[in-house]
Amino acid sequence: MRIEVLSIFPQMFSEVMSTSIIGRAREAGILEFVAHDLRNWTHDLHRTTDDECYGGGAGQLMKVEPVFEALDELLGCAADVGSAPASALVSVPAPTPTSAPASAPASAPAPTPASALASAPAPASAPAANPAKVVFFTPAGQRLDQRLVEQLAAEPRLLLVCGRYEGFDERVYSRADLCVSIGDYILTGGELAAMVLADAICRLLPGALGDATSPLEESFSASQGGLLEYPQYTRPAEYRGLAVPEVLLGGNHRLIAEWRREQAIIKTAQLRPDLLSSADLSASDREVLQRHWEADS
Ligand code: ADE
Repeated sequence: MRIEVLSIFPQMFSEVMSTSIIGRAREAGILEFVAHDLRNWTHDLHRTTDDECYGGGAGQLMKVEPVFEALDELLGCAADVGSAPASALVSVPAPTPTSAPASAPASAPAPTPASALASAPAPASAPAANPAKVVFFTPAGQRLDQRLVEQLAAEPRLLLVCGRYEGFDERVYSRADLCVSIGDYILTGGELAAMVLADAICRLLPGALGDATSPLEESFSASQGGLLEYPQYTRPAEYRGLAVPEVLLGGNHRLIAEWRREQAIIKTAQLRPDLLSSADLSASDREVLQRHWEADS
């Protein structure tokens, strides 16, 4: 899968997109990532990407032209992208393999000079042959949840567009396939939201996590029926009087599976009862829930 971002702060992505599971996924070629600097599609000396609001009001808005021109180019034919000014592609380099000396640069440097990029390899796989789903980040977007993450993880290419200031000129949204919000609060920009989405997607990509089954068994996943994940424990079996539930120490897999399902239902009822209405519950799950409510009342 390929994820691209369009931002006036592409360097924000360096560390996050080079560390741990995401870094390894990029090293392994499971995930390609490119950060594009929106300022490269400006035409004035100051590389301006914002302007005042028509009609007055506080704050600045992201201008429409740089976003349109960037999208024209990034979504256009491969030849167009290849002929872009070299400085237009601020590629966050894939992380240095872990065997490299600790002093090796692990994150993206300051924007790469055009001279260096001229000899840099073209972004892996021709974007034009690989149409992108264009996602804008805004508090007014569709609320991100695991279901949406799963849908987007199935896309071959995402282009994530990050705003700043008071948001975008409304006309840019005509270029969106989807607008996403990561919650009902206001961030200083879309970059952190894009990183949240990229992180949540990356761990679903086949091969990204060591244990291939682990993303299937966690909170919110479809295979868990939309419940929170059951409680988990590791050694020691007792710590400061806090004991691991006996059933987990016994090695009876059927009993453990039953206990985990029951605990997932109870935990969801206690902490996120709103999830129960859309959860996929069997008749015996409903009995567990009923018993829990009776015991609770
Ligand atoms: N930009 C600013 N706030 C945001 C939010 N909550 N989600 C997505 N993008 C944003």
